[in-house]
Amino acid sequence: MTFNPTRRGWIGLGLASAALLPALRAEAQGQTPAPVATGPSPETLTLINAGARDVMDLSGTWRWSIDPFRDGMAGFHGAEADLGHRRYDDIDVEAAMTADPNALYEYDMDRSPTTTLPGSWIAAEPELRHYQGLMWYRRDFDHAPGGGRVHLRVGAADYQTVVYVNGEKAGEHEGGFVPFAFDVTDLLRPGRNNVTLGVESVRTATSVPPPVTDWENYAGVTREVLLVHTPATFIDDAWIRLDGQGRIVADIALNGADRADRAVAARLPGLNLTLNGRTDAEGRWRGSVPAPRRLALWSPETPTLHDVVFEAGEDRLTDRVGLRTIAVRGEDILLNGRPIFLRGICLHEEEYGPNPGRIITPEAARALLTEAKDGLNCNFVRLAHYPHSEVTTRLADELGLLVWSEIPVYWRIDFANMDTLGVARRMLASNIRRDRNRASIAFWSVANETPISAPRNAFLRALIRDVRDLDDSRLVTAALLTDREDVDGRVEIRIDDPLVADLDVMAVNTYGGWYSHDRLTDLPAMRWRSDFSKPLIFSEFGAGALAGFRDSGATRKFSEEFQAEYYRQTLAMADGIPFLRGLSPWILKDFRAPRRQHPVFQQGWNRKGLTSETGRRKQAFAVLADYYARRARR
Ligand code: GCU
Repeated sequence: MTFNPTRRGWIGLGLASAALLPALRAEAQGQTPAPVATGPSPETLTLINAGARDVMDLSGTWRWSIDPFRDGMAGFHGAEADLGHRRYDDIDVEAAMTADPNALYEYDMDRSPTTTLPGSWIAAEPELRHYQGLMWYRRDFDHAPGGGRVHLRVGAADYQTVVYVNGEKAGEHEGGFVPFAFDVTDLLRPGRNNVTLGVESVRTATSVPPPVTDWENYAGVTREVLLVHTPATFIDDAWIRLDGQGRIVADIALNGADRADRAVAARLPGLNLTLNGRTDAEGRWRGSVPAPRRLALWSPETPTLHDVVFEAGEDRLTDRVGLRTIAVRGEDILLNGRPIFLRGICLHEEEYGPNPGRIITPEAARALLTEAKDGLNCNFVRLAHYPHSEVTTRLADELGLLVWSEIPVYWRIDFANMDTLGVARRMLASNIRRDRNRASIAFWSVANETPISAPRNAFLRALIRDVRDLDDSRLVTAALLTDREDVDGRVEIRIDDPLVADLDVMAVNTYGGWYSHDRLTDLPAMRWRSDFSKPLIFSEFGAGALAGFRDSGATRKFSEEFQAEYYRQTLAMADGIPFLRGLSPWILKDFRAPRRQHPVFQQGWNRKGLTSETGRRKQAFAVLADYYARRARR
């Protein structure tokens, strides 16, 4: 059992105190965390397409100060953090200690070491490669008051974050993969300001995901930090799409004192189309118009994007949006009304290279997605197991790749815990609001390989209802497990998870021949049976191979030949499933996975990639690429 600092360690260290972040505090005291406040939260701010606004990008050099015993959160008796340890205080420590010889500070952010954000600390500093805990980041910036409002927006920080501006707490957030923002207008002053981020990377049994996953914990601030300037009343959320009745539908939600009864508009200048109206008392508006007959639809083959302008008074926000429909009919998935087979591959959010830091620049995302699209002949990617960067989903729009987007409701989630459900629901809503203008996204997935139980079914059905409420234009799915039995001497694999009844598309992860003693040659004869008449996606299948490890007999696991033969036989099995409508094998590239410690074949990497971590293609890469090329011609 892995040491779990939040149970034994912190109580032993006297850190179970009022100042810890709520979920951690309750966990440390062995209680079920109190229900999370449902009042104003960072998730109530969407700041859609913030990057298109007037922003100050705070990416670049930050100071960092490690805090493994969380002294910055609580004193050693558990009360308020001591003056000499509060990393976030608005103070010049050197000046204070010079002015008062009795003053004692055991930190000094202004003279701490520097690093570059965004990017995980585990890749940035060799001494932090295996550090998991609380880290403080701080930087200064200049501000000239200019009217309107200023929001501090973090693209993602893993796992819990507390934000201070000039020593005042702006807010805190739980979740490692979705953006969050705080209105900091009233915390700023003319001239020099400072922002301090406290990022806690240790998760607890009530987290989303829990501590045990099969991917590296890229701790820290992994996406951009922006100061976003907006008018006093601004367009916080805006969404435009083509619905299933041939109409273009637009929603606008305003934030600010003058949000009610305001004139708003959504324009498609290239189509000479304008939708306009007035917001209701809550600052919301929805309008629709018939779509033009010869509308250029988005698809992987023709990824057409249309310029969009959202307007509300002095606020004007632009975007580029693809228009298409995605639906199911019986056992078919329909893109723009026509059946499609999904030629996919899974990806973790990890750039190519020997020491990735989850630094997803446009170049890093393009290297990954073009290997899928052009190298493997894909029209689909499963962005596992959490919301990926907006850089990636926007590039999928541009290149023409359909996307499966998911939140990390993964393995042993605390399904009976309402606090955990609250975290998952807010994470799901943030993900959907951030990306529902991305035509590439076809699926919202609510879970991966979660053991079946009544609390799990209730938990996931709550998430599915949220998806339906937030986005009626996409399909809901989940990666499920299956049962198997021998029937008349043949292996029969059954899909009988009760959750399928609530999904549009069923998906299963299958590893026969890798995690089982099946001979690879037995795979094609396996019979698949479903209790439901719905489309099926193989959301995962894969075998490990260390690039360069050869075995001409294809019998040694971790050889390239074994992995290639595993793909041939699994694809032959897939061809025998009449209701299969897509594949996303596990996985494009080898990725860091602390559970994988074979000293020769793994060294902390999951080797199921079709390429190595540096992009070296393995033999199985060509097997899948050729299979997809043939599929594309069918
Ligand atoms: C599971 C899981 C993945 C994991 C993979 C594997 O299905 O969803 O996160 O990496 O199998 O075992 O390699």
